[in-house]
Amino acid sequence: MTDREKEARIVRRAEASGCKAIFLTADSPVLGVRYNEWRNGFQPPPGLGYPMIEKTSDQIQQESHDDGFSSFNSDSHSWAREIPWLRSITKMEIWIKGVLTSEDVETAIEYGCDGVIISNHGGRQLDETPATIDVLPACAKAARGRIRIHIDGGIRSGTDIFKALALGAECCWVGRPMLWGLAIAAI
Ligand SMILES: Cc1cc2nc3c(=O)[nH]c(=O)nc-3n(C[C@H](O)[C@H](O)[C@H](O)COP(=O)(O)O)c2cc1C
Repeated sequence: MTDREKEARIVRRAEASGCKAIFLTADSPVLGVRYNEWRNGFQPPPGLGYPMIEKTSDQIQQESHDDGFSSFNSDSHSWAREIPWLRSITKMEIWIKGVLTSEDVETAIEYGCDGVIISNHGGRQLDETPATIDVLPACAKAARGRIRIHIDGGIRSGTDIFKALALGAECCWVGRPMLWGLAIAAI
């Protein structure tokens, strides 16, 4: 985040709430070009705030989705600056979310991270990224058991989970299917 004190407050609140780990999103230094959101003028509905990043509904309504993102998100990600700083302010585990290469698995190990989430942000951040299931074997091979590996992106059935476990993941995460379920229940 651009505001480190705010970031530290989030970390402290998470720790005080009993969270065991931070998933640090590393794949979105800037927001991807999201034509569908531009076309549809995407905005969260009134009344919905983002308490975690300390934004009220009124603040959110006054800015575009893209401007809202760039108003708090730092676009200068750096392993050397972020990871030791996070380590110095929390005892929670630190996981890097958004890893797609064996080189980044190595770097995460070098910086003493506890785990990586093989993720391409559900394919919604940057066009032409590889499918996570395709890069998983190389990432697991590089890890050689030295760092934990989770995966997300396109996990839609039990067989997807079995494939991911067989290719070296310890666990799968699911994004949109949960949201679709909630949306259907809201109709
Ligand atoms: C509406 C929406 C918002 C998301 N916001 C974030 C976010 O703020 N940070 C993040 O790391 N990933 C975010 N993601 C990506 C998810 O964490 C996850 O990587 C992705 O949805 C997994 O793919 P799947 O939806 O195919 O299961 C978001 C995904 C969706 C659908």
